[in-house]
Amino acid sequence: MIFHQIRSGGCLSYIVGCEDSCAAAVIDPEASLLDKYMALTTRDGLRLHYAIDTHTHADHFSGSRALAQKLGLPVVMHRSSPAPFVDMHVDDGESIALGKLRLSVMHTPGHTSDSMTLLLDDRILTGDTLHIGGTGRTDLPSGDPDQLYESLFNGLLRLDRSCSCIPRTNTKAASIPRWRARSPTTRDCSNTSVPDSSN
Ligand SMILES: [Fe+2]
Repeated sequence: MIFHQIRSGGCLSYIVGCEDSCAAAVIDPEASLLDKYMALTTRDGLRLHYAIDTHTHADHFSGSRALAQKLGLPVVMHRSSPAPFVDMHVDDGESIALGKLRLSVMHTPGHTSDSMTLLLDDRILTGDTLHIGGTGRTDLPSGDPDQLYESLFNGLLRLDRSCSCIPRTNTKAASIPRWRARSPTTRDCSNTSVPDSSN
């Protein structure tokens, strides 16, 4: 697997590629970094097949639409996404194929109603559902703390505990047990964001 984390301030985006087939996807691309994504994929001999947004981003400009138009890619989002430019809607339990890799979709609403987590081998790309030491905020449009609680405690915490958590907003990967040790212990998840994880 080829895996790149691209940082822009506090926001993180990712390129995932299959070494055998050279098929790749960019996840949560930012509009200001399109040249960077194309340079990385060209350098590694990858061919982008999808531009994926884990959720509707309320606080920065997604680069998915521009990248899709530039390279002729489908934009992928969860079925409940209200975005009019989505080409491929995915739902809980479905998979996005990248050669020998599979990005399995897990609907994890709460930060937004269309938030999804992508399961990929030994890691989970959590978008803004789960950060390092906290969770995504729930006060933006379609946010819901009760849904976030369900997504965390009846969803992500039931996954293989050896998986690494790869958030859209933070500085490093952490295992589920590490996050759990810092998790909220009450049902009120509305004020659990860490200071640098407010997206
Ligand atoms: Fe977000």
